[in-house]
Amino acid sequence: MASSLPLNVNGREVTITVDDPAMPLLYVLRENLELRGPRFGCGLGQCGSCMVLLDGEAVLSCEVKLSTVGAGKIVTLEGLGSPDQPSPVQQAFINEQAVQCGYCLNGVIIRTVALLAKNKNPSVAEIKRALADNLCRCGTHLRMIRAVQRAARNA
Ligand code: FES
Ligand code: FES
Repeated sequence: MASSLPLNVNGREVTITVDDPAMPLLYVLRENLELRGPRFGCGLGQCGSCMVLLDGEAVLSCEVKLSTVGAGKIVTLEGLGSPDQPSPVQQAFINEQAVQCGYCLNGVIIRTVALLAKNKNPSVAEIKRALADNLCRCGTHLRMIRAVQRAARNA
C-alpha cells in the first residue's frame, strides 16, 4: 500500500508518495523530486557521490531510508547555489577547476560544506581526512584541496 511522507528539501515542504518507505532517500531525491545533484555511484555507501546534508551533517543518501528522515532538513547541491549564483564553496571549486568528469563533485562539495561549518580553517591533513571517503576516479585531489582552502579563505 502506498504511503505519503512529508519531507523538507532545500527549504521546501514536500509530500512524497511511495510504495516502500524503506527506499533509499537518494532514489526519492533523484526520481520523485528530479534533483540530480546527488549522484548514484555505487549504491552501497562506498563512493560518496550521493551525499546530501541532513540537519547539517553530510550523509550518504543511498544508505538513508526515507522513513528515517522525519522532520530532518535535507539540503542537496541544488539547495546550495545555482549556475548563476554559486555558493562560495561551489565558486571556489570553479575557480580552482577542481574537477575533471565531475561525477564525484556533488559529494565533495557537500562534504566540504559540512567540514567548513564546523572548522572554518581546516589544515591540509584535516581536509584530506574529511574527503577521504569521497572517491575521485579522475584523481583531482590536489586541486580539490586547493578549492577547500580557497573556500575557507573566502568564507
Ligand atoms: S552511491 Fe552512495 S556511497 Fe556510492
Ligand atoms: S572528477 Fe571525475 S570522479 Fe572526480
